[in-house]
Amino acid sequence: MPVRVIVTKDFDHMSAVAADIVTKILVQVHRAKREAVLGLATGSSPTGLYRLLAKAANAGEFDSARVASFNLDEYIGLPGDNAQQRVLHPESYSYFMIQEFFSLLAKKFRETRVPYGTLIEQEKFASELEQHPGDWTAEGRGPGKSIVIKTSARSEYLAWIRREIQQGYEQKIASAGGIDLQVIGVGGNGHVGFHEAGIPFEGSRVLLVQLDHDTIRNAVADGHFKTEGDSPRFAVSMGAELVYEARNVVLLASGARKRVPVSRSLLEGVSTDVPISYGRQYAKKGGNLVYVVDAVAGADLPGSREKLAAKGIELEDLRG
Ligand code: GLP
Repeated sequence: MPVRVIVTKDFDHMSAVAADIVTKILVQVHRAKREAVLGLATGSSPTGLYRLLAKAANAGEFDSARVASFNLDEYIGLPGDNAQQRVLHPESYSYFMIQEFFSLLAKKFRETRVPYGTLIEQEKFASELEQHPGDWTAEGRGPGKSIVIKTSARSEYLAWIRREIQQGYEQKIASAGGIDLQVIGVGGNGHVGFHEAGIPFEGSRVLLVQLDHDTIRNAVADGHFKTEGDSPRFAVSMGAELVYEARNVVLLASGARKRVPVSRSLLEGVSTDVPISYGRQYAKKGGNLVYVVDAVAGADLPGSREKLAAKGIELEDLRG
């Protein structure tokens, strides 16, 4: 299918256009089966969409009790002396989802899941990696790495992470029948979830990620953590390959930091340098991918209409 790119006026307009698309797809899915499976992202980009989706659900436009959700990613290493404290930390993605979406629903989703990153003790994890160098490899050409734990891992802790945290989450998605619609944002370096630039696409299911400096810098710049030392160093994240298995993907991007990754992902080749570019491959294979961006994030697109068309990308300019 062609990739659809909709350039909107601003954040509110982007959120409204996206909410309309997501609501329509949910209604369609509900006609075909009992439960819709929604993939969700954190970050400032989808907050307006979530408010509008909650409003639509509460107005009866779709039945939120017939939705199960899976989030893209979660930090490891949030401050807290146990898992409970880390889940409740205001920067955890679980906390974020409750605050920005789940609590706004009059009828709650039947089930919500966020990758189980808070169950991992960062210091123990780091020391197991150090003590068992033969148990894992670090993959990726950039500063952000995917830590791949070998099936033969001798460390019980690392084997547990592989089995319960990574494969466990992937299996939950599979037993829900896969994701009907995945909402994604874009990191400053073009990452999706925490699939950082340079991490290979092949086999990118549920990843254990050592975060890129750029991601940590942005987390501090956006006021999430006071210093780079306070920021988690690792995360659990769906990889691009798994993200782009959803039956529909809606990508949101707003603001100046997104301009370069958005245009590179559409105008250049598909490359792990910009992980969201993998969406073009997905669309080519029949996936339904829609970018909904604001005028600032999409600033390079209206002037590149022909170039985009030549790549099979349809542009709708709603800047008015
Ligand atoms: C984090 C999340 C991503 C999100 C990105 C952008 O890195 N792991 O899933 O897309 O932030 O966030 P924002 O929308 O706040 O720019």
